[in-house]
Amino acid sequence: MTKKTIEQLRSRRWFGGTPQSTEHTGHALQAGYGREEFEGKPVIGIINTWSDMNPCHAHLKERAEAVKRGVWQAGGFPVELPAMSLGEGYVKPSSMLYRNFLAMETEELLRCHPIDGAILLGGCDKTTPGLLLGAISMNLPTIYCPAGFTMGATFRGERFGSGTGAFRWAPELIAGKLSPQEWQTVEQKIWSSPGTCNVMGTASTMTALAEVLGLSLPGASSVPAMDSRGHQLAAAAGRRVVEMVWDDLKPSDILTNQSFTNAAKTCVALGGSTNATIHLIALARRAGASFTLEDFDAIGKQVPVLANVQPSGEYIMPEFADAGGLPAMLSNMTALLDLDCLTVTGQTLGENIEGARVENDDIIRSLDNPVATEALAVLKGNLAPNGCVIKPSASDPALQKHRGKAVVFENANDLAARIHSPDLEVDPSSVLILRNVGPKGGPGMAENGMLPIPKKMVEQGVRDMVRISDARMSGTSFGTCVLHVSPEAYIGGPLALVQNGDEIEINIPERSITLHVDEAELDQRRQAWAPPAPHFKRGWGLLFNDNVSQAHEGCDFEILSSREPNPEPAIHG
Ligand code: FES
Ligand code: MG
Repeated sequence: MTKKTIEQLRSRRWFGGTPQSTEHTGHALQAGYGREEFEGKPVIGIINTWSDMNPCHAHLKERAEAVKRGVWQAGGFPVELPAMSLGEGYVKPSSMLYRNFLAMETEELLRCHPIDGAILLGGCDKTTPGLLLGAISMNLPTIYCPAGFTMGATFRGERFGSGTGAFRWAPELIAGKLSPQEWQTVEQKIWSSPGTCNVMGTASTMTALAEVLGLSLPGASSVPAMDSRGHQLAAAAGRRVVEMVWDDLKPSDILTNQSFTNAAKTCVALGGSTNATIHLIALARRAGASFTLEDFDAIGKQVPVLANVQPSGEYIMPEFADAGGLPAMLSNMTALLDLDCLTVTGQTLGENIEGARVENDDIIRSLDNPVATEALAVLKGNLAPNGCVIKPSASDPALQKHRGKAVVFENANDLAARIHSPDLEVDPSSVLILRNVGPKGGPGMAENGMLPIPKKMVEQGVRDMVRISDARMSGTSFGTCVLHVSPEAYIGGPLALVQNGDEIEINIPERSITLHVDEAELDQRRQAWAPPAPHFKRGWGLLFNDNVSQAHEGCDFEILSSREPNPEPAIHG
């Protein structure tokens, strides 16, 4: 492989010794660096999503120091660039409203500064796809370093997973079976340390997919946040990205149709978050790979769930990691993977997982002893012409084929106001509908898709019902929840036309979703339908609404997913 020369470094446009570079050299000296510390060295931008409002990333300041150590060791010049942190719990109305914001910010931070290579520090849900989307479009040598997950806990004898544990016990609180004091213990145990949610939610799924795509060092996604290996791997990534700059190894050299197929298969084998369908499609489009929701369904039929991790399985991430983590799981499914895909190590996926072994075959299953056979299904029909998704492995087997009467909630506020009302007309066979919570309708497609079971039903012992929405649900959630209905209600999709009492049928084995109302009646309703008023009148929310694509297209902005290259910034002194 031919190495880049110093003169070919992108940062030389700023630091090249020309009269125009005086200002840039002066600023580096002003920051306290000696000439010998930065001149002629690759500049490595560390995009850090640390924030006081994101406790999942509380340790990323120190993590950045470990990266810098590695960059210095390899003869690079590290600079830390803070970017918007999307703390999943705090950011309202939904962190998804800001994923594309972080993507744009990442791309432009890298573009407008003298950067030759990048390390991305993230982990909490949308931070992973946000950082990766921007880095893919910018296409500089890049390594993604995940934050790692929070510690584990036990409650009433059960392994207690972040999010999942709270969802699991919330109906018991509503039913009066847990005291307020016991609930405080639940709150304490959701996240016992810095780090991302410790189940196979969006965070653990997306960090694993970054690794299998070839964008992280091997094993990086299976390290707990507070494990010393996190800093060790961060330093190793710092050293490696400097080499990648000299080798000019970029995301476009790594990401292919095959690497996305590997990622989707891994997602299914993990029992991964439904959110990953949206993010992976968006990432593939940015990378120019062809990958669709239909591909996901075909893979969902082919690949069983191997990771026995909540919410599809029993264990939590620290146990999965200890059992060998992602490399071990991949070594159990090599027959399904394209092992020749290149990764940031400069080696193939196959080479990276050589020697990985499973330490506990109940936690990481083999292909002939899976946890479940269906982690993800895409349904289509007159209620969702462009598709919707469900996680059969996290839903009640008795509801996989179901017909019932619709109980419609107009939006998230309507749901909150009426779902637990004693007057709600509902029975265990009802199909709960929530609409106007999609990409534009939310806007931002909040995680409202796991509609709560009405109190009235909980008191009768009901723990699952069919729920249908154009929202997403948290990757830590479970239940018979049909999500991402496309097109969404807000733009006049058929979900907008459902009325209370309409018969709705889902048939997961047949992949169908049907609104049993005849076409003439639906046409009449369509004529009478008017779009709801836009939520935002100005600013980011309006920009988002005007540009965001539908769920089956990845919810990216067309202006961002375009593959047209932007020119390098002009430098005039
Ligand atoms: Fe940050 Fe779950 S809240 S990863
Ligand atoms: Mg989440």
